[in-house]
Amino acid sequence: MRHLISPLDFTVEELDRLLDLAGDIESHPEKYAHACAGKKLATLFYEPSTRTRLSHEAAMLNLGGSVLGFSSADSSSAAKGESVADTIRMISCYADICAMRHPKEGAALVACEHSSIPVINAGDGGHQHPTQTLTDLLTIRSLKGRLDHMKIGLCGDLKFGRTVHSLINALVRYPGIEFVLISPEELRLPSYIRHDVLDKNNIPYEEVVRLEDALPELDLLYMTRVQKERFFNEEDYVRMKDFYILDAKKMAHAGPDMLVLHPLPRVNEISVEVDKDPRAAYFKQVQYGVYVRMALILTLLEIEV
Ligand code: CP
Repeated sequence: MRHLISPLDFTVEELDRLLDLAGDIESHPEKYAHACAGKKLATLFYEPSTRTRLSHEAAMLNLGGSVLGFSSADSSSAAKGESVADTIRMISCYADICAMRHPKEGAALVACEHSSIPVINAGDGGHQHPTQTLTDLLTIRSLKGRLDHMKIGLCGDLKFGRTVHSLINALVRYPGIEFVLISPEELRLPSYIRHDVLDKNNIPYEEVVRLEDALPELDLLYMTRVQKERFFNEEDYVRMKDFYILDAKKMAHAGPDMLVLHPLPRVNEISVEVDKDPRAAYFKQVQYGVYVRMALILTLLEIEV
């Protein structure tokens, strides 16, 4: 039985097959409409979510399966003190596969150690968000035609942004990838990722503070929200929250083919005027998230169509 806890749980070849499957689902959705008939997905969300929970649910419904779950810790027996380990034992009796989001780093790993069904990590604290990474990879491959030889700007809260951590881990496996890490000093990428992932894999990167300076040379800009929920005090968050605002004036510095991605939700970091720019791909990204989660559910349940 397989789980998805980290983006590295799939080899590059397996990832290619998964993205190919997602592409086939996009082209021929009717072929897959009953693939999961009789199967159930449980969504265990101890933290707020719109996209990740609902896209997993939409994915299972599109495959002809059904869904059950909870959308906050308060509405589950976690509020009475039940552990993740005990909860997952129960869920294994109710469902065939589950997606779990939890505020603690490593919670999904604990869950898979006590589970008899596949566990999908739907975000564990500031650590990883592998299904967002699958979404990002499918978006990039579909819109750019490749996952290699690109200069990628990662901008915003690189310290707490788990989507960035997962994406870096996944992309360093492709040739010719370079990063520009764009953040204020306080929100720099953690040193364990700079040293253990970028340096160890000899990945070229630079760290800059000004977004305008980086824009002209980028193939892709990945914007992120300042992660309010991970700050220890409100004052620091308020000081940081509007550090970057991508607007039409800044977009004028970027090349004609530079894509803008964002895992969403957005707060102020991308002005709504950018939405109509053809380089803005963050709403297309949401649709790719459904196809790739359909492919993931089929893969983890070992269902071939
Ligand atoms: N991208 C993402 O994880 O969004 P949600 O928090 O709404 O699930």
